[in-house]
Amino acid sequence: MTTTARAYPNIALIKYWGKADEELMLPAAGSLSMTLDIYPTVTSVRRNNNDADTMIFNGRPATDRELARAVRLLDVLREIATERGLPQAGTWHVDIATRNAAPTGAGMASSASGFAALAVAAAAEFGLELSPAELSRLARRGSGSAARSIVGGVALWHAGTDAQSYAEPVSAPEMRMISVVVSRKHKKITSREAMRITAATSPYYAGWVETTQEMLPAAVQACADGDFTRLGELAEMSALRMHAAIMACEPPIHYLEPVSWEIIALAGELRENGIPVYATADAGPNVVLITTPTYAEEVAQAAQNLGTVSISGPGPAAQVLPASASLFGGEGEKHE
Ligand code: PMV
Repeated sequence: MTTTARAYPNIALIKYWGKADEELMLPAAGSLSMTLDIYPTVTSVRRNNNDADTMIFNGRPATDRELARAVRLLDVLREIATERGLPQAGTWHVDIATRNAAPTGAGMASSASGFAALAVAAAAEFGLELSPAELSRLARRGSGSAARSIVGGVALWHAGTDAQSYAEPVSAPEMRMISVVVSRKHKKITSREAMRITAATSPYYAGWVETTQEMLPAAVQACADGDFTRLGELAEMSALRMHAAIMACEPPIHYLEPVSWEIIALAGELRENGIPVYATADAGPNVVLITTPTYAEEVAQAAQNLGTVSISGPGPAAQVLPASASLFGGEGEKHE
């Protein structure tokens, strides 16, 4: 059998940066994001009869590091399956084929969609019926932000214990996100490594965690109130405070490039002209502009000289696709 699933990336409004537990992938603070309706990852998983997992990534064999991250999530799943009365599951292995529509590693959150799609496809291939909260916790073990890509629309990912730390949907004002891709280059330093360095060396890390714990409930309240302006202000602040903490590392880490700052400045200029738009950026040089549906086209036009723009609305939850969506070719083929 083969199971295929699709998940979309998400962009955080209140950022996750720093872990309370590296092994369990528990965040130091909660976060809030919107799942996008562009750049999906599609992942097919099929049980094999071998004693190892294999992975094809965007049509080529996965690197050892990529495979190791997938295996880590699968190990958690094998444990869950064993606990749920499938004593053989500890020895089950799979072939994975996965394809990202987003530029991998350039700050467009392809790890979030990737691990969410893997969690959903692998759980179904194992015959396990996991709840959305359980799938979110499983996806979290691959990449923290993947916990949020299980959920459609706006997602709140809770900090806390393993049992508490999953994402759930919250109602929010209608938003559009305009991603301005300025670079498809692989980022120099992974978010995992940079989070470690920030926690270990940035004098602002403690302040970052503390301010996130204050901004998160305020952002959730703004969502409940349908208050786009307040949500936008908090989102931009969260991004700038995260990057401030990161830049203050020893040695410093720079994710934002001159053109990134131009796009952030553009948001401010547009606001002065009465357009409700706020900027955010993840661990890379690309910037995402957050606005309301009414202004999406205008904002995209204003940014198009600075990068490749795409407009996204709220995307769907991660889900299993029909068998015809399989990325595996004919029976027994190793490649897509
Ligand atoms: O889950 P990771 O390791 O991809 O970390 C994501 C970190 C940021 O994208 C920078 C922030 C966030 O909340 O998505």
